[in-house]
Amino acid sequence: MIDLSGKSAVVTGSARGLGRGIAEKLAQLGAQVVISDVNAEGAEQAAAEIRTQGYLVDVFAANVADKDQAHALIQFAIEKYGKLDILVNNAGINRDAMLHKMSMEQWDSVIAVNLTGVFNCLQPAAQHMRERQTGRIINISSASWMGNVGQANYAAAKAGVVGLTKTAARELAKFNITCNAICPGFIETDMTRGVPPKVWDLMVSKIPLGRAGQPEDVANCIAFLASDQAAYITAEIINVGGGMIL
Ligand code: NAI
Repeated sequence: MIDLSGKSAVVTGSARGLGRGIAEKLAQLGAQVVISDVNAEGAEQAAAEIRTQGYLVDVFAANVADKDQAHALIQFAIEKYGKLDILVNNAGINRDAMLHKMSMEQWDSVIAVNLTGVFNCLQPAAQHMRERQTGRIINISSASWMGNVGQANYAAAKAGVVGLTKTAARELAKFNITCNAICPGFIETDMTRGVPPKVWDLMVSKIPLGRAGQPEDVANCIAFLASDQAAYITAEIINVGGGMIL
């Protein structure tokens, strides 16, 4: 049984989708959780809904692509709870286009949120965790990190997250901090619900378990990595995709 009581957590991009599911799961398991999102209103609404279930959550609106806002988010959690045990870097966007049509804006925005955003939160959190000699960092990459048509920007950012995760894991291991990445496959959220039915069916046909994932499928894995039971797991890149073959 996973028990996160007494632990504090930050989940970025948690107004909806995977982040929301992760925040809810960590709170259900006893953690105090900061719901954070660039969408302040959405974050407030998600927090209000989770509170009605009787769980402890706070809200801090932040754009992770902005270094100052990301640092303020980590500082908020440390001041609010006296410490930060768990950081889940989940915030992400996609701006898909074929290489020959990809604009600089599409490239820059995805790198800024999906890669620099992870660094912006990880750096101050790791500094705090080093001082406490304990911590869990979990970064959300994607099955697309190995390359996916129409996603040069997204795949590059998510591959960057893999390299960042493995490097952070090696640098931080001696401080008893673990750092792992999750690669979700095809999960039913607002990000994926917009795809045409034909594409949806094609994606599901590539999943041996025969269905799209749910946020809870990813949240369960994160809850384990955040727990004391996962103390000996670091620098891992874990697929949660029903066996999906891209
Ligand atoms: P989503 O679009 O439903 O939710 C993303 C959340 O991040 C939104 O609430 C959004 O407001 C927030 N966000 C966007 N930019 C932000 C910023 N600059 N600062 C703070 N928050 C920001 O997406 P979904 O599906 O929940 O994805 C979550 C993560 O999982 C992303 O990193 C995504 O790349 C990754 N992922 C999702 C997969 C899927 O099938 N849904 C598959 C593989 C990876």
